[in-house]
Amino acid sequence: MARCHYRRALIYVCSPCIFLLMLFLSIMVSSNMNKATRSIHFVASGSFKNNNSASMPKSFWKLHEEAFWNQLQLTLDRQFNPILNPQNAYMRFRSHAFYVSLLSRSFLEVTDLEPVRRKMEQLPLQMRDFASHMKQRSYPVLIQPADMTCGAGAVDEKEPPLILLAIKSIGPNFENRQAIRQTWGQAGWVATREMDGSPRQKVGGYIRRVFLLAKEYPKDSGCHISELLREEGERYGDILQWDFNDTFFNLTLKDVLFWNWFSRQCSKTRFVFKGDDDVFVNTVNMITYLHNQLEKPNAEHTMKEFMVGDVISAAFPNRVHQSKYFVPDSFYKGLYPTYAGGGGVVYSGQLAKRLHIISGRVHLFPIDDVFVGMCMSRLNAQPIHHPAFLTFDFPYKEDKAPCAYHKILLVHKRSPKQLIRQWDKLSKTKNQCRHVSLRVSNKRENTRIN
Ligand SMILES: *[C@@H]1O[C@H](CO)[C@@H](O)[C@H](O)[C@H]1NC(C)=O
Ligand SMILES: *[C@@H]1O[C@H](CO)[C@@H](O)[C@H](O)[C@H]1NC(C)=O
Ligand SMILES: *[C@@H]1O[C@H](CO)[C@@H](O)[C@H](O)[C@H]1NC(C)=O
Repeated sequence: MARCHYRRALIYVCSPCIFLLMLFLSIMVSSNMNKATRSIHFVASGSFKNNNSASMPKSFWKLHEEAFWNQLQLTLDRQFNPILNPQNAYMRFRSHAFYVSLLSRSFLEVTDLEPVRRKMEQLPLQMRDFASHMKQRSYPVLIQPADMTCGAGAVDEKEPPLILLAIKSIGPNFENRQAIRQTWGQAGWVATREMDGSPRQKVGGYIRRVFLLAKEYPKDSGCHISELLREEGERYGDILQWDFNDTFFNLTLKDVLFWNWFSRQCSKTRFVFKGDDDVFVNTVNMITYLHNQLEKPNAEHTMKEFMVGDVISAAFPNRVHQSKYFVPDSFYKGLYPTYAGGGGVVYSGQLAKRLHIISGRVHLFPIDDVFVGMCMSRLNAQPIHHPAFLTFDFPYKEDKAPCAYHKILLVHKRSPKQLIRQWDKLSKTKNQCRHVSLRVSNKRENTRIN
């Protein structure tokens, strides 16, 4: 009997201890969870809402294990699940290389499964080729600007460059590159515009320029493109070329490899413009717009995730076989994350470095701008939409207005001849159009089903 009393007393005394112990443990776990979410946002499979109500399309990143890409990504995500793998999830400062090693491992793990291999074999030819090279993302540089320079620029820069223009091009597009060098892509100082249209001579920024290329197949189609490119690189110092096949699905590699290069070469550059070699950019407006962003009170903070362009939300993958954007549902299921159209987008240098690191946690996707959107949502960041980015050209007849080109930041698409003609016209109408401001309305809806 006495022993029984003793045991009951023990329970009475100890239950508060047990309770306290449980409480302590749960606080430990939840504070660790908070730490993890603060460092890099963990997007659980099936979750569709980020903290700052960044609207994530409902079915993005959902459990769609039957699609190839989704399955790969889910396996990778599991590596960062705070409950399954706290050692990965709680580490704040992981290197890009660490992420890439996990990525490789998850790729091998998944593609080792028999049903997955069968799934891969059934993909359309191009997609299969893409899928079989997905885990490789390091390719040698063939041509690059002189060591330690962030692209071609002015010789006597008195402050760090404001913007690096990083333009996707392909070997044969020499005429496009030349037109850009002579027009909106001229390296050097550009003054911002006052509200009354007059330039503020002392305020502005330095522009730098680099073209992003890969290799042409079949080998140079007889006209020695590699040799010409080498000469072009020596002459202008603005060619960055890697040793991979320059195809549409490989464009994503240009983002990944560019971020890597940028992180090493361009530590002080404030902004990056990344776009196609068939766009027209109003450089003065761009410099003015970016300067205004830097002068905003909270700029120091907002620059961490600053990206602006023609933003497309909740897009559905293109399921039309003939389209170059075609992505079968055996490859990817769900909506795309919010992303800025790849024809032309601007982001901060700080963000470029963060994208470089986080890109190691996202499997390559064959559509480059969608991949950038995926990396953005991994950073819990949202691109800003600006109606002066016309990646689908002007709405009906708007370009007939005399000052149309003074109201924009960018328009797609223009031939080299049109670029030169329009650039000329821009300077001729400078006085006449000096009071116009950037276009704000967005008359058209985004219609690209990508
Ligand atoms: C979460 O969202 C709230 C409200 O939108 C915001 O004030 C807060 O800064 C956000 N926290 C993080 C860590 O992003
Ligand atoms: C991408 O480039 C690699 C390396 O040259 C090549 O083997 C692969 O076929 C290319 N992928 C596509 C989808 O063209
Ligand atoms: C590059 O891509 C083209 C077209 O997809 C293909 O015919 C060629 O074999 C590829 N070359 C390499 C080296 O992968």
